[in-house]
Amino acid sequence: MQHQLSWQYDEFKQVGRDYNSQAEVEVYDSSHADFRDIAAESERVLDLLRIETTDTLIDFGAGTGIFAMQAARRCSQVYAVDVSETMLDLASAKAVRAGISNIEFHHAGFLTYQHSGETVDAIVTTFAFHHLPDFWKGIAMNRMNEMLKTGGQLYIHDVIMETTDALANINAFIQKQEAAGGDFLREDAEGHFRDEYSTYDWVMDGLLWRSGFTIESKQIDGGVIGTYLCTKK
Ligand SMILES: C[S@@+](CC[C@H](N)C(=O)[O-])C[C@H]1O[C@@H](n2cnc3c(N)ncnc32)[C@H](O)[C@@H]1O
Repeated sequence: MQHQLSWQYDEFKQVGRDYNSQAEVEVYDSSHADFRDIAAESERVLDLLRIETTDTLIDFGAGTGIFAMQAARRCSQVYAVDVSETMLDLASAKAVRAGISNIEFHHAGFLTYQHSGETVDAIVTTFAFHHLPDFWKGIAMNRMNEMLKTGGQLYIHDVIMETTDALANINAFIQKQEAAGGDFLREDAEGHFRDEYSTYDWVMDGLLWRSGFTIESKQIDGGVIGTYLCTKK
């Protein structure tokens, strides 16, 4: 995948967990099952977006493909985008086994994916946006805005912090993850704050607004897990 700028952020470089690693990808679904039900989560997101059978949708950071497959069953076309070929291989194999043929898999990311189809009805990204530093989040939001129809929806779910009691909330979150999944999830949570680019909610608010989005709803659970539903102005 070519970069348009010689100084462009290399989004293919793994930060935090190495999702190019086969071992890492193989344990992804079972380790995340310790603290979330991705299939149920996916249905709730699709309900919230009021996805219809004629809709099209992009999933950025599609990972093991659970959301993309659920979405594909309820809409006309899904574009599943991920910088990890290992993730894409697993997700596409799962889709073939499930007899799902309306997902296009793309080895690309927020900064490099070139959407050649019509503008889409919705873009979803869960636990992937924190891989980009804040400046590049702004660039990515502008790119996503261009890929959406007017009135199209953007759903973001990720580690996003409130300023008040940030350190205490982060410590409480890390302890909660450890209680749910032992050392693996404690290290995973610690890595978010030490090595990755989880950001403040007010940074997200400003970036979204300046990128042409209206924030329809926003929730920050425990001061640490953010969910945004936005529409393209
Ligand atoms: C923690 S997983 C989340 C997977 C899935 N969305 C979920 O909710 O379980 C993060 C995924 O984002 C991908 N990723 C990292 N940086 C990315 C980027 N710049 N653009 C697109 N995907 C990216 C990783 O390869 C990985 O598959």
